[in-house]
Amino acid sequence: MDFIEGTATEAVAQSFAGTADPRLRRVLGSLVEHLHGFVRDVEPTIEEWEAAIGFLTAVGHMSDDQRQEFILLSDVLGVSMLVETIEARKSAAPAHRREWDATPSTVLGPFHVIASPEREHGDQIFPAGGKRPCVVRGRVLGPDGTPVAGAKVDVWQCDENGYYDVQLPEVPNGTGRGLFTADAEGRFWFRSVVPSHYPIPTDGPVGRLLKASGRHPYRPAHIHFILEAPGFVPLTTHLFVADSEYIDSDAVFAVNSSLITEFARVDDPSSAAGVGLPSPYWSAEADFVLRPAPEPA
Ligand code: BEZ
Ligand code: FE
Repeated sequence: MDFIEGTATEAVAQSFAGTADPRLRRVLGSLVEHLHGFVRDVEPTIEEWEAAIGFLTAVGHMSDDQRQEFILLSDVLGVSMLVETIEARKSAAPAHRREWDATPSTVLGPFHVIASPEREHGDQIFPAGGKRPCVVRGRVLGPDGTPVAGAKVDVWQCDENGYYDVQLPEVPNGTGRGLFTADAEGRFWFRSVVPSHYPIPTDGPVGRLLKASGRHPYRPAHIHFILEAPGFVPLTTHLFVADSEYIDSDAVFAVNSSLITEFARVDDPSSAAGVGLPSPYWSAEADFVLRPAPEPA
């Protein structure tokens, strides 16, 4: 059969019609339909098509077990957050079991590369002496508002200059990280510094893509969390610092208004002494609502 522009998509889709796995059959059929639709829309020249292949090849070459340029590409195209958001919608608790909306899940990012050290409530996850020392207090709840006692809360964040511990050879691994266990009321707290906004890695093809499209590479200041407890879906999420630059234009589209948290300045020496910080300090509070794990079929 000749390859004819008008019937090519149907012919290629048909070539996959015998795929035994029904999910794979659906994925391949849709891939052909949308990819052909994209090519028909853009009508790339051979040269442009070669450039696209070159770009994807560079993304592959930039990726190894330390650096995942494909995930970064997915992040800046908004695909990672779209997948997260669809998954959350599909696994939402039924309305009759839900008084609180589950906390939105967000991208993991590339800096969860070492295990966080176990910490006690109130521990300082950065050495004292930051410009904006802070206290973060959290509560872990189920969808009916019941505290999730014993939930594991894994925290990681960058410093006041936008660097994670693993990016700075002179900084001990584990700085800016902590693994906490929620108390009987689902509460945990720690002392830290208010993190800075920072750029995602721009030294690869994704950086070139952002540059070519006039996009900035910055993420607004945030703290990462993974919360886990038996009977609940593990939650990967962030808290975003409300007064951060780029809060309205996260390079990876992870901001959700319910995750924006005020780090309030507290100018009260006795309250500062009570939490063991200099005055002024900054204070943030957040609730994290987990989704129940699906019931076994
Ligand atoms: C991060 O916040 O650690 C991050 C997330 C996605 C891409 C790059 C960095
Ligand atoms: Fe981050």
